[in-house]
Amino acid sequence: MKYFIVTYGCQMNVHESEKIAGILEKLGYTQADTRETADIIVFNTCAIREGAEDRVFGNVGNLKKLKKNNKDLIIAVCGCMTQKEQTAQKLMNTFPFIDIVIGTFNLPKLGYYIEAVKKGRQLELFDEGEIDETLPYKRTSGDNAWVNIMQGCNNFCTYCIVPYVRGREKSRKEENILKEIKEIVAEGKYKKITLLGQNVNSYGKDLNPQITFAKLLRDICLIEGNFTLSFMTSHPKDLTDDVIQTIAEEDKIEKFIHLPAQSGNNRILKLMNRSYTREKYLDIIKKIREKMPNCRITSDFIVGFPTETEEEFNDTCDLVKQVGYDSIFAFKYSPREGTVASKMEDQIPEEVKGERVNKLLALEKKLQKENKK
Ligand code: SAH
Ligand code: SF4
Ligand code: F3S
Repeated sequence: MKYFIVTYGCQMNVHESEKIAGILEKLGYTQADTRETADIIVFNTCAIREGAEDRVFGNVGNLKKLKKNNKDLIIAVCGCMTQKEQTAQKLMNTFPFIDIVIGTFNLPKLGYYIEAVKKGRQLELFDEGEIDETLPYKRTSGDNAWVNIMQGCNNFCTYCIVPYVRGREKSRKEENILKEIKEIVAEGKYKKITLLGQNVNSYGKDLNPQITFAKLLRDICLIEGNFTLSFMTSHPKDLTDDVIQTIAEEDKIEKFIHLPAQSGNNRILKLMNRSYTREKYLDIIKKIREKMPNCRITSDFIVGFPTETEEEFNDTCDLVKQVGYDSIFAFKYSPREGTVASKMEDQIPEEVKGERVNKLLALEKKLQKENKK
């Protein structure tokens, strides 16, 4: 029996697919080279932008033929997209041949659903549970080992679906993280360890007793062995001096920070509920550069947020120039059902968003060229 997993979305999802592989291998499945030779195909989906969801609809639709040729083929769709009940229902209505549709909260029960699939299909969306420390991972990212340190997000940026599909912030216990990393290092196969969380800087705030992200970093660096440590993603509002100092001091920590700014305009940042200003953001960049002149810094930007004027967009371009990033990601704002921003008036037309994203990326290319020179 063979499995094939198709993954969309962020590193968190890539790592979650390693968990799916772990669950399937425990059930006796092995990895298939192609979807045509698989007995079970799992789509691990992303809901961050409409484009991500459209791709899933297209690709799942293409499986109809495979299912026709092989009645025993099991098709499962999980992840952030199917944690939204409406989207999950739409998927099941559009593609009645899908066998299992589950959200992020019930992923630990994937094995149970596979066993139950012959008994019929039913949508059940669970409430958030505790972090499951028992599920195996099958690491698939070469010499990099992902380590999840927390789940969920409390920030509710007004454009973002993540808090709705991943739940509230829950930190793993430090002892469990340290134990996992010690095991990874002992295996000797991994040169790099990347800590994952939607907002790693708020690690430990929900634990009793509380512990800071900086302390976790320092404790990980005490583990003996040859490895480099990195992490993502950092939210500017929570990146403390202590964390910057720790990155600077610890040889094992890679001098690299992904610090999404999203916009360079204060009115838009406020509407986005990002809890920092352009000035505060630039201040953090200054602190990083003072301590680590060679630190690589990257960022994400959203253009065409509701009500964004051309001038306000220009503030974003100006910020990009001022910081001189090593690279950036730029996204057209995509309204996500259920979020605050999707209900705002004055949504920006698609053509304008397109023009702005092209302008920003062209600017970035030009800056990179000058930088290289
Ligand atoms: N937790 C991380 C980001 C996770 S999502 C953080 O806070 O930075 C990755 C990126 O997708 C975000 O940084 C943002 O730029 C983009 N994004 C999120 N929601 C979006 C939306 N509705 N439309 C367009 N881009 C979005
Ligand atoms: Fe989304 Fe904001 Fe949380 Fe990042 S911090 S996952 S952008 S709500
Ligand atoms: Fe997408 Fe979910 Fe990650 S929405 S970006 S896969 S947390």
